[in-house]
Amino acid sequence: METSPFPKSFQFGVSTAAFQIEGSLEQDGRGPSIWDEFAQIPGKIVDGSFPSVSCNHYADWEEDIRRLQDLEVDAYRFSLAWPRILPEGTGQPNSKGIAFYDRLIDRLLEAGIKPWVTLYHWDLPLALHHSGCGWHNPGIVPAFTEYCDLCFRTYGDRVRDWITFNEPWCTAVLGYGTGYFAPGIRDREACYLAGHHQLIAHGKVSRLYRDGFKSTQNGRIGMANNCDYRHPASGAPADQEAAQRALEFFLGWFADPLYLGDYPESMRDTLGPLLPKFTEQERSEIQGSCDFFALNHYTTNLAAAPKGMIGTNFASGNGGFMEDLGVDLSNDPSWENTHRDWRIVPWGLTRLLEWIDRRYGHPEIFITENGFSISGDNPEDLINDPDRIRYTLAYLNAASDAINSGVDLRGYFHWCLADDFDWANGYSCRFGLYHTDGETGSKRIKRSGKWYAEYIRQHHNSAK
Ligand code: BG6
Repeated sequence: METSPFPKSFQFGVSTAAFQIEGSLEQDGRGPSIWDEFAQIPGKIVDGSFPSVSCNHYADWEEDIRRLQDLEVDAYRFSLAWPRILPEGTGQPNSKGIAFYDRLIDRLLEAGIKPWVTLYHWDLPLALHHSGCGWHNPGIVPAFTEYCDLCFRTYGDRVRDWITFNEPWCTAVLGYGTGYFAPGIRDREACYLAGHHQLIAHGKVSRLYRDGFKSTQNGRIGMANNCDYRHPASGAPADQEAAQRALEFFLGWFADPLYLGDYPESMRDTLGPLLPKFTEQERSEIQGSCDFFALNHYTTNLAAAPKGMIGTNFASGNGGFMEDLGVDLSNDPSWENTHRDWRIVPWGLTRLLEWIDRRYGHPEIFITENGFSISGDNPEDLINDPDRIRYTLAYLNAASDAINSGVDLRGYFHWCLADDFDWANGYSCRFGLYHTDGETGSKRIKRSGKWYAEYIRQHHNSAK
């Protein structure tokens, strides 16, 4: 048997998020979230769907743990629904919502599966948003801290791996900049404020955890940032610069303050006063606040300099993040395509991991999301999914290439356990290792699910 390319301690897992899989949105005292409201506005969700059932995980959680066991994963990354725990966002906790995650965590541990808990995966309690307290408002920081404190006190005796935010870039740009995601705000200033407050909240919560819980609970804390690789469109210096600039705007926006203490210079130069400043206290809480680097990664684009823009200050008179970035993103037509123009470029993952390793001083890295979506309605076609197997194997090989080149990669979580509600894409993008019938929530393992279980089994039997 060939030796596994991954070390023995390497963690294989799958990821999910509460709003995407739970269903039962009105059950047991859960409060509404911004997505409950947003997804019901006509035209916001591509296929007009709404996740009242979705994967029916709130009811079917025990079976889902059996499914995780069938996949043979070491770890399961899921998110807590803030509005199930605190229906109004702050104040009175909801005992039934709290008990749900208690049971889930206990059963996972009994099943030998490590719970990786995301505190915020986009389902902001609607009451907070309506009171004006969204991510663009500093009032969100104490509210989030109160919620996290309750989570650490309640679950921290059993949870070792905490992620404060899932993809703060998406919340900032898509939620507050373009309005493509909930809460649907289109405002350039709100976009950068939303990013800023997530960083401040992360710093405070990390400090809270380290000062108040870490010594007894022995866990660790990080933030999951999304970044697809940006490869220079040519060898020309302007395109090389454009690719670097794009990585700084997509990933450095959040990772630089966490690891280097401030926003990238390229962003400060371009955005001027639009990019808020951290106080000394905030900076000291944010810098060094991650115990591991969590990366969500799906694809790669080419980056090129639009003529005449690089090096100039084009902050005024434009409409948002992409204009501020000022880089042309495109695809190489020779790269294999998928139904949504997300190209399959495994070496982009290797390059990105190497970039992170160099820029942030060799951190411990976990890939907390990577996956492949298919569209269509015929269950048999969706279940028989050789392309997902090919994609996943290629990206796992690319991950092992990064380890061979010295990157400290510790784990890989596939997105997603089962076909779920894919935000603005509704059910038109299916990422699961299990097929889900969106009406009943019933599930069937896909060919890729069986393959992933076999891959993990082989790793467990042959790891060094
Ligand atoms: C990430 C999110 O953006 O990727 C997931 O963390 C999401 O929640 C997944 O479902 C797929 O992306 P998209 O763009 O299809 O929603």
